[in-house]
Amino acid sequence: MKTLFSGIQPTGNIHIGNYLGAVKNWVDLQDKYACIFSVVDYHALSGNMKPEELHQNIFDATVDLLAVGIDPKKSIIFQQSKVIGHTELAWIFNCITPIGELGRMTQFKEKSDQANHQGTNTGLLMYPVLQAADILLYLAEAVPVGEDQLQHLELTRIIARKFNNKYGQFFPETKPVLSPTPRVMSLHDPSKKMSKSLGDRSYIAIRDDAETIKKKIKKAVADDKGIKNLLELYSYFGTTKKHQQMVNDYKAGKLMNSELKEELSRVVIKFLEPVQGKIKEYEKNPKKVYEILEHGARDAQKIADKNLTKINKIVGIN
Ligand code: AMP
Ligand code: TRP
Repeated sequence: MKTLFSGIQPTGNIHIGNYLGAVKNWVDLQDKYACIFSVVDYHALSGNMKPEELHQNIFDATVDLLAVGIDPKKSIIFQQSKVIGHTELAWIFNCITPIGELGRMTQFKEKSDQANHQGTNTGLLMYPVLQAADILLYLAEAVPVGEDQLQHLELTRIIARKFNNKYGQFFPETKPVLSPTPRVMSLHDPSKKMSKSLGDRSYIAIRDDAETIKKKIKKAVADDKGIKNLLELYSYFGTTKKHQQMVNDYKAGKLMNSELKEELSRVVIKFLEPVQGKIKEYEKNPKKVYEILEHGARDAQKIADKNLTKINKIVGIN
């Protein structure tokens, strides 16, 4: 089986953009690949979360992933910083990555713009190098992500190629795996992707209760783009028949916004009900969650050790 790797930052609750764009694929591909999933806490350190908040978010992200269907019996799930090798390989990669490649990354430009160039830390610049190390430490070939990560995966391929050219063929070609909804748009501003950084009204978290979901969807922007976004969301949570009927009504100019919004709220709430049930169960048993993470880190470490030993030898630091 080929190896699949993906990661998510512990920056708060997972939202339906994360789920439809990436995490649903993680769940669905567990039987087809040797899967390794990571809660990437080192990446989150490049933001400015408070330590207690980060610590809680690592736990919450793990619970969310388990609740939507990541199965620790099939896949490895672990906390990035608990495996030695990610930052080590990132350093080796830093030494072959042109600075120019990092400066042109869209995510870096956006984040450093937000920080108004004053608060930009080096971690934000190196972020995609660490991401390449996450993936290549496990020689992963498949990486299920949302569209916003394609540029980072292109850089991962560039880094692998540079390494292979300098030291001889070692790393595989990494390919992104996209879902049918690689870019879920914000409810509040459908010209932007759904994101935690756009504020509460932009997204539906998988932990949102029924009232919150109804309120957010009710307030969702209902211009042309907004309706298309809501219809697309409906197609993933609702029935094909009802979706088709609403698309037809929309084309005929007789789709009632209120009907679409009520229907969408209903199916999203219905979808999230069992997920939230599982979240509650895991929260009652934090010991189990930490055991899963420890077990995952042990399994990941074995693979990391094997590969890093070879890599160190290849570059001459064995
Ligand atoms: P993050 O929360 O930034 O760590 O993202 C975790 C995963 O969700 C990544 O693979 C992202 O590409 C994906 N993702 C985040 N936001 C969206 C969105 N609005 N639509 C589709 N995928 C997304
Ligand atoms: N940068 C990714 C994001 O923001 C998270 C991430 C870190 C990741 N390392 C990874 C995704 C490795 C895929 C593979 O979503």
